[in-house]
Formats: sequence, structure tokens, C-alpha cells
Amino acid sequence: MRVWRGGEGGAFEHFDVPRLASQTVLDVVTHIQRHLDPTLSYRFACRVGMCGSCAMTVNGRARWTCRTHISEVVAGDDLEVAPLRNLPVIKDLVTDMREFFDKWAKARGQFHPTTTRKDDFARVTPESPERRQADAGIECIGCGVCYSSCDVVSWNPEYLGPAAMNRAWTLINDVRDGARAERLGAVAGDAGCHACHTHMSCTEQCPKKISPTAAIAGLKRATLAAALKGEI
Ligand code: SF4
Ligand code: SF4
Ligand code: FES
Repeated sequence: MRVWRGGEGGAFEHFDVPRLASQTVLDVVTHIQRHLDPTLSYRFACRVGMCGSCAMTVNGRARWTCRTHISEVVAGDDLEVAPLRNLPVIKDLVTDMREFFDKWAKARGQFHPTTTRKDDFARVTPESPERRQADAGIECIGCGVCYSSCDVVSWNPEYLGPAAMNRAWTLINDVRDGARAERLGAVAGDAGCHACHTHMSCTEQCPKKISPTAAIAGLKRATLAAALKGEI
């Protein structure tokens, strides 16, 4: 198998790793680091698909490696593991996620409460349309797979990207949040929802089966409606 070594100007290095039953891509990378080359850098935490830190490019496609079995991805004996696309490479399989999370902040991805702890609990009906829209995107684990798979991010480094806008749409549908107009304004610019070409790579690759494309379509409708009303 081949593993990316070094920074942006690095190269692939060959390793022989024994094939085991139920082996994941993360198991293979861990085997290399523990038994063949302790200087290999990579990132993981939970190993159960919750933290979002283990995403890498596996045979050309972004994936969460702790939940990707070798049997799903290996063609013959050929396995290539590289860092995520569209992000600066720090070393080996570790990318710098700062711009990814900075864009969450630019898309106003933080909850803005409208009540204090002295107020009663908010009651949100599970069947309400807003709650259903928020539910559709809330399980995002911030893995960056969608961001790495998006060609618009490759062409336009300013583009906020699918995860940040999925987060913005989730909060816009949170009836307890008080920053709707500010958030719509943040995602309405040239680097926002109208730059999406709707080619669905983000939705096809998301390991949590979230559809950032649908969230971005919601933002397109909401920003247009807000602009017509003079709210943004
Ligand atoms: S649907 Fe939009 S955000 Fe998703 S990959 Fe395509 S261009 Fe990027
Ligand atoms: S939307 Fe999906 S692919 Fe994108 S960061 Fe969230 S969990 Fe990962
Ligand atoms: S190690 Fe946490 S999602 Fe893979």
C-alpha cells in the first residue's frame, strides 16, 4: 500500500501491511505507526465514528477511516491513503483544519440564545417543519469529508463550503436562535450559498448521510426571501 509522507511537497511511501479480518483503514494506518514507522503522523480519537478526526483520502475518495473497512475499498491489494484534499497538509496524513472551522464561524455557526437560564425551557415540537429541518443536519461530526470532496472549494478558496452552510441552515431552523438575519447575511455573499453548483459530491460522500446540498438549497430560498423583504 502507499501512504503520503511529508507536507505539500511530499510523496507516497510503500508499506507492506498484513491483511486481517474486519480490518479498517485506520487499523492499517495504526499498524504502520506502531510496527513499521513511528514517525507517521495521523489523527484519530474515538474510533467509533463520533469525533470526526480520522478523515483521510482513501483510494482517491474522502472517507472516515475508522468506519471504512478495507474490504469495501481495496481493489486487489491496492490501497492508497493520503491527507484530505482542499486543506493545507501539515505532515503525512494530518491536515490543518483551521480554515474549515474558521468558515463555520464566518457562516455564524454559533448558537445565539434569546433567553437566559432564568427563563423556562423552550418547547419545540418534534414534528414542526423547522425542527425536522434542523434534525436533518444536526448530526454533523465536523469531519471535513464534504469540504474535501467539493470542487467549488478547490476553485474558490473563499467558498464557505458544505459543512459550514449545513450548520448555518441547522441554526436558522432552530426557533430558539436569535441571529437569523445576521446568519443569512453571512451566507448570502459571493462565497456563500449561491456559489454552490449543486453537483452533490458533499451529499454523496457524507458518512453521516447528511445532505449539505439540501441545506444549501434551503439557504438559497431563505436568502432570496429575506432580500426581497429587505431584511438582508
Ligand atoms: S453540492 Fe455544492 S457544496 Fe456540495 S459538493 Fe457540490 S458545489 Fe460543493
Ligand atoms: S456534513 Fe457530513 S461530511 Fe460534512 S463535516 Fe458534517 S458529517 Fe462530515
Ligand atoms: S476516530 Fe472518531 S470518527 Fe473516526
